[in-house]
Amino acid sequence: MNMSMARLVDTIIQDDCVNVLKGLPDASIDMVLTSPPYDNLRVYEGYSFPFEALVTELYRVVKSGSVVVWVVGDATIAGSETGSSFRQALHFQKVGFNLHDTMIFRKRNPIPQIYRRRYNNEFEYMFVFSKGVVKTHNPIMIDCLHAGLELQSTTYKNYSKGQQKRKKMANPVKSQKIKGNIWEYVVGKNAEDQEAKGHPAPFPCELARDHIRSWSNIDDLVLDPMSGSGTTCKVARELGRHFIGIDVSADYCSLARDRLSGNRRKIQTNRGVEDDLIAELPLLEKLRG
Ligand SMILES: C[S@@+](CC[C@H](N)C(=O)[O-])C[C@H]1O[C@@H](n2cnc3c(N)ncnc32)[C@H](O)[C@@H]1O
Repeated sequence: MNMSMARLVDTIIQDDCVNVLKGLPDASIDMVLTSPPYDNLRVYEGYSFPFEALVTELYRVVKSGSVVVWVVGDATIAGSETGSSFRQALHFQKVGFNLHDTMIFRKRNPIPQIYRRRYNNEFEYMFVFSKGVVKTHNPIMIDCLHAGLELQSTTYKNYSKGQQKRKKMANPVKSQKIKGNIWEYVVGKNAEDQEAKGHPAPFPCELARDHIRSWSNIDDLVLDPMSGSGTTCKVARELGRHFIGIDVSADYCSLARDRLSGNRRKIQTNRGVEDDLIAELPLLEKLRG
């Protein structure tokens, strides 16, 4: 890690994201989790958002196989949803990213809307872009409904269709399977999310936890170029990852630093999740040299 990069690791930087990214070396970031301003849906102290330049820089700074998770929704303006999220996804592809997965963030407590003649909007997209083939996937597993079911001379597919034609004995249904790509969260109610009060649109810590665990490993470097209240950075640190957070607003950077203070880096040991004093040492050595 070069010295200028080392100075930025595990900090929140107040600046325009493209300015900061231009100073980062090629292929230095393991994962990005971020959420841009949505069609000026909320006012972020009047700052503009350099979308195309940001995507170009993201492609350059992420490692081969890294993932960028882009959490976004569309505003409804003059009776029509803007479709900005789709245009952004297509632009990521144009720059070279794969559209690895279009995931849904379903809100358990969506805000009631005043729009007429449409259903209440209760989700946002979580586009997962990858630079080539994904290098890290630690999938979240869930229990199978029919765990242990013996299918007697058929496959589960045939069994469920009522067609039991195959002779081959199928294995019993596994106990667990990979979770689907619609993830549900309560927004803004949990104590850890209440800490982000003061920012108009933080995403839930639990959402950050699920993505960071899925697409990165301990000691990886996670970037949030529009870090707002610092949710990505706080959770990355808690999960033993390094982070860089950038936000153009001084107020949101100060909120993010407050959330991070006193929140020591954690690591899984054979005694459980503990403060990571030892793992800080290699980082300090890297920073020194
Ligand atoms: C949707 S919010 C991010 C919220 C964040 N995920 C959280 O949990 O708090 C978008 C953020 O982008 C920031 N922003 C807007 N333009 C920016 C720019 N050019 N560079 C860096 N940050 C910017 C805004 O200040 C705002 O905090």
